[in-house]
Amino acid sequence: MKIQSHLYIFIIFFSILFSGCHSEQKQKIGKSEYQQKIDSLIKIMTLDEKIGQLNLLSSGWDITGPTMDPNFKQFIKQGKVGAIFNALTVEFVTELQRLAVEETRLGIPLLFGYDVVHGYRTIFPIPLAQSCSWDLSMIEQSERIAATEASAEGINWTFAPMVDISRDPRWGRVSEGAGEDTWLGSQMGAARVKGFQGKDMSDANTILACVKHFAAYGAPEAGRDYNTVDMSERTLFEYYLPPYKACIDAGAGSIMTSFNEISGVPSSSNRWLFTELLRNKWGFIGFVVTDYASIFELIPHGVASDSAMAGELALHAGIEMDMQSTVFINHLKKSLENEKITLKEIDDAVKNILMAKYNLGLFDDPYRYCNAQREKEELLTPVSQQFARDFVTKSCVLLKNENQTLPIPANIKKIALIGPLANSKEDMLGSWSASGKAVHCITLLEALEEKATKYNFKIEYAEGCQIQDPSVKGFARAMHAAKSADFVILALGEHRNMSGEAASRTNINLPEVQQELANKLIALDKPLAVVLFNGRPLTITELNKTAPAILETWFGGTQAGNGIADVLFGEVIPSGKLTMTFPREVGQIPIHYNVKNTGRPIDPKNPEYKYRSKYIDCPNEPLYPFGYGLSYTQFEYSNLTIDKPELSKSDTLHISIEVSNTGNYDGFEIVQLYTRDLVGSVTRPIKELKGFKKVFIPKGQKDTVTFKLTPRDLKFYNLKMKYVWEPGEFLLFVGPNSISGLSAEFRIL
Ligand code: GLC
Repeated sequence: MKIQSHLYIFIIFFSILFSGCHSEQKQKIGKSEYQQKIDSLIKIMTLDEKIGQLNLLSSGWDITGPTMDPNFKQFIKQGKVGAIFNALTVEFVTELQRLAVEETRLGIPLLFGYDVVHGYRTIFPIPLAQSCSWDLSMIEQSERIAATEASAEGINWTFAPMVDISRDPRWGRVSEGAGEDTWLGSQMGAARVKGFQGKDMSDANTILACVKHFAAYGAPEAGRDYNTVDMSERTLFEYYLPPYKACIDAGAGSIMTSFNEISGVPSSSNRWLFTELLRNKWGFIGFVVTDYASIFELIPHGVASDSAMAGELALHAGIEMDMQSTVFINHLKKSLENEKITLKEIDDAVKNILMAKYNLGLFDDPYRYCNAQREKEELLTPVSQQFARDFVTKSCVLLKNENQTLPIPANIKKIALIGPLANSKEDMLGSWSASGKAVHCITLLEALEEKATKYNFKIEYAEGCQIQDPSVKGFARAMHAAKSADFVILALGEHRNMSGEAASRTNINLPEVQQELANKLIALDKPLAVVLFNGRPLTITELNKTAPAILETWFGGTQAGNGIADVLFGEVIPSGKLTMTFPREVGQIPIHYNVKNTGRPIDPKNPEYKYRSKYIDCPNEPLYPFGYGLSYTQFEYSNLTIDKPELSKSDTLHISIEVSNTGNYDGFEIVQLYTRDLVGSVTRPIKELKGFKKVFIPKGQKDTVTFKLTPRDLKFYNLKMKYVWEPGEFLLFVGPNSISGLSAEFRIL
């Protein structure tokens, strides 16, 4: 038996001695219990072994960034690696873990990270789609399933949730987030952390969350990925920081830097952000990992002249694990000798990383996540498939439905299914599809073929055109199929790789060839529904003028086709609502619902008056606003009441409203509560989402929906940047989206 194993047994024995061997005890162990073990371990670690823990390398199994080093196995054996990412399967993870545990002096186990962003093998709708369900429990449950599947294949750390607020659909990574609203994005991020980490991170089916990208990565100038972020302190604190804080408060065990600078300081060297704010003010006790090679990128950012300086700036900022740049492993020892950094900075970083490994139970059992039986049994189960299908139906947003075009009548005889997204398994995965496999995806064509049997109709499929290729040679066949059909379904949109990382667009229209095909098919004047597949809001202003019905389905993942078909046939009534504004024109961007009034708002009584904050070539209003989404039924709002016109600081305002289902289908309605602070010590937005309730109302019935508001719900960063509420006049709005509904006034004394 090798010397290392003796040492490893010594550590385990030492740990058990302290922690007691009874499993219940481990459940109760807090930080202090682990702290003693970590302090003992740090004492016997060499400097090289300590710096090794700060090094995160890609296995190269999946390519998620610019470079990778093929010698990672050698580095593991030399104790130069603390974590590996992009390594999948129990077999491969076991092989690498064994190198660390049995072939290094101290046998410190590795973390295994991966981008489990919207499912692992069962791929759920992209996060932006999920957010349109406004269903926090489904979001949490989806991450529970993702964590179960990922941990069954050896993963114990995910680089998610991504909670970057964005008001700019040119930025391709809006697909990974929860849209434009800070309050909603905070709730959804926290739900994801709870789903990943469960009740006890040492359970074999829970994984460490990593909230990203800290901070404000979603606000790059011109919507261009990795570009400069420059904003006021007030905007940063009011709109962009809260979702990260919500995830930290939910217990996220790690956090990832962003590539961007904020007002001149790149995140990976921002001591104010990672030490003064994140650690000292917010009390974060997890560890900080960089994004892919972002320490090295301090050189092109222009704040470091070489790698050594980049590493010193990063460590001093409070960055602890270096993803892929190898700056830490190659330079920190020399920097310490040159007294540019301190041993305490290294030790503190190592301790936080070791704490995560203890929390995950890896010191108790480094092979805890290497269970071949689980790998066989726990991926792509019928239960996860059914859940995925349900989630697709809840994530779809009905944008238009003239003359009740949808749902498709049950007595339909022939459907023409046309379009480049009708039968694309690959594109259903969306971006960041982890270990999802296109072969497992159900396309809309496959799902409709199943419905054809159930409802006894014929289906004719014609691609019509490709996603971007301008060729129109497929038009004739598509027109022929449509002419002989009773109903036309038109599957249009983006490639999966037209959104996600490094996929910003200056033009977010439908590709021209698709618009041309749509125009020809719509001109046939048949019942027609457009089904959109996209990773961001699109300026579908032309399509919206003529298409009778438009169903936004985003990229729905493994069960995309089935879920969409369930909605098209009315087996599930659409209930999704947009969490990101759809512009009419790209020139309106950044565009969002919670805008300021300005000193020259348009006067509704005199909208033509020139000298107002508006465009001469486009309305200010978006094509579809935040919170918007239709149903097959109709909901009416009435009798908005508040229980008091004034409230003091300790009061609660009770709000109620009646919502009636006046249509022909049972359905869910997402009732939204907004407020407006009419006068503040700084300018305040014309609307702020403060609550929502998703209610099921059978047709012909009504429900009374209630909300509560306290002054604490109305806090903001005042003139002195204090987070307070202020007395004064307020409006509240309750309705189906951010631009309609009923309003009431109240004041805070
Ligand atoms: C990428 C992404 C980040 C991801 C990481 C690892 O560049 O920015 O979100 O987690 O690299 O794949």
